[in-house]
Amino acid sequence: MYKLLIIDDEKNLVNVMRINFEKKGYNVRTANNGTDGLELFKKFLPNCVLTDLRMPDINGVDVLKAIKRIDFDIPVIIITAYGSVEKAVNAVKLGAYDFISKPFDFEKLHKMIKEAIDMYLIVRNEKSYLSSAIERAFPGMVGKNKKMKEIFNTIADISDSSANILITGGSGTGKDLIARTIHYVSKRKSAPFIVINCAAVPEDLLEAELFGYEKGAFTGAINLKPGLFEVANGGTIFLDEIADMSPRLQAKLLTAIQNREIRRVGGVITISIDVRFITSTNKSIEKEVQEKRFRDDLYYRLNVIRINLPLLRQRKEDIPLLASFFTKKYSQKNEKKMKGLTENALTKLMSYNYPGNVRELENIIEKAVILEKGEYVTEKSIELDISEYGANHERNPDFISVRSNIPLEKGFEHFTKLYNDIEKEILIRILIKYPNESNQKLAEHLGINRRVLELRLKKHNLNKKEL
Ligand SMILES: Nc1ncnc2c1ncn2[C@@H]1O[C@H](COP(=O)(O)OP(=O)(O)OP(=O)(O)O)[C@@H](O)[C@H]1O
Ligand SMILES: [Mg+2]
Repeated sequence: MYKLLIIDDEKNLVNVMRINFEKKGYNVRTANNGTDGLELFKKFLPNCVLTDLRMPDINGVDVLKAIKRIDFDIPVIIITAYGSVEKAVNAVKLGAYDFISKPFDFEKLHKMIKEAIDMYLIVRNEKSYLSSAIERAFPGMVGKNKKMKEIFNTIADISDSSANILITGGSGTGKDLIARTIHYVSKRKSAPFIVINCAAVPEDLLEAELFGYEKGAFTGAINLKPGLFEVANGGTIFLDEIADMSPRLQAKLLTAIQNREIRRVGGVITISIDVRFITSTNKSIEKEVQEKRFRDDLYYRLNVIRINLPLLRQRKEDIPLLASFFTKKYSQKNEKKMKGLTENALTKLMSYNYPGNVRELENIIEKAVILEKGEYVTEKSIELDISEYGANHERNPDFISVRSNIPLEKGFEHFTKLYNDIEKEILIRILIKYPNESNQKLAEHLGINRRVLELRLKKHNLNKKEL
């Protein structure tokens, strides 16, 4: 039974939610202010926390921060009143799982909570408790981005079909992982899953691997060897880097898929095969087709179902989940007892572009976990590759990069606006970087005096607490 903690000062709303969630089988505890909520949190150890943003004593953001310090992974969902979405978005940047605005639909909230708890259990590696069959199928995959959720749903929907699948996406976005997952949730799961990288093997060898050969088919063919299509019978074959397959093999593969049968190299008999083809590439396959390097007829056969993985920088909201997941993974692997990441570490991770996508994030965390002596991954042990692209500053939270074209017409109007934007950005960043420092100290960091700092904060309507 999942434990849910609800913190909100609107007593009626809290009671209605409690009744509804109890009907769904949750063990619910409630608090009407932040202080009681935090006390209860420590005793009750919930699987998920739902908290209001504005409360009389401690606000929701501080509740969130306090919870994250006790248990980094617990999903915290923010309830916001109409008009404070911006603050809720900031809370998500600080590690809240998601937010929902009042008035909300109970079923929508329930779905959000169920998903959040499932992700939490995956991160914790406690997947055997996952609430639904679909989620149980994704033991090693996390993500809450909308596109990623659509992909998870697609995988669940196609688990009973044998349609061919083409997976595209940049390097390190998770194509391999998706292919494996698809196999292991399909009805083919007890038959083999075979992977071959078409770019890594020379053409003749690839042909021999895939189709097999008869004894004496070529010099060196001392014995008959069944090909991978035969070995994978009843299962799935994953052809990685398909765009690099030679034209001759493309033709042969097309025939095999169309006729569902193959002939071994040097053989005469046809052998029928029953395999599902999953292919992948990080090239633009449509461009390969257009430029006639890839056969369009084969493309149509392979592209029956398409999964296109977004780049990591297009789903930055997944970074906290992934970072936490990898922290757990490498902490276990290195026999450490890491609890999570610090707020500054997350801010730093969020500022980076990830040309190497999820794999790069995984490597960064692995290194950090090894370097780290304490219980948390801190920003100091996170090493980002700032040599990439030359746009170093954009990725470094300690720098603000400015590139702008100011037209001469109304030049000073544009300049004033730019000046104000930069001023605001500097203030926000410094407040995020040193959330607990006095105005005096903050002003010293910025090289201005306290009075000036306070005037500027006021000018931009910035409130230390709310950030
Ligand atoms: N959503 C995810 N959740 C957890 N781990 C992930 C996720 N996506 C990718 N990974 C991990 O990131 C690493 C890279 O993923 P994978 O090898 O599947 O990428 P790829 O797209 O096949 O890369 P390449 O283009 O280089 O072949 C793997 O260790 C994988 O387990
Ligand atoms: Mg791969």
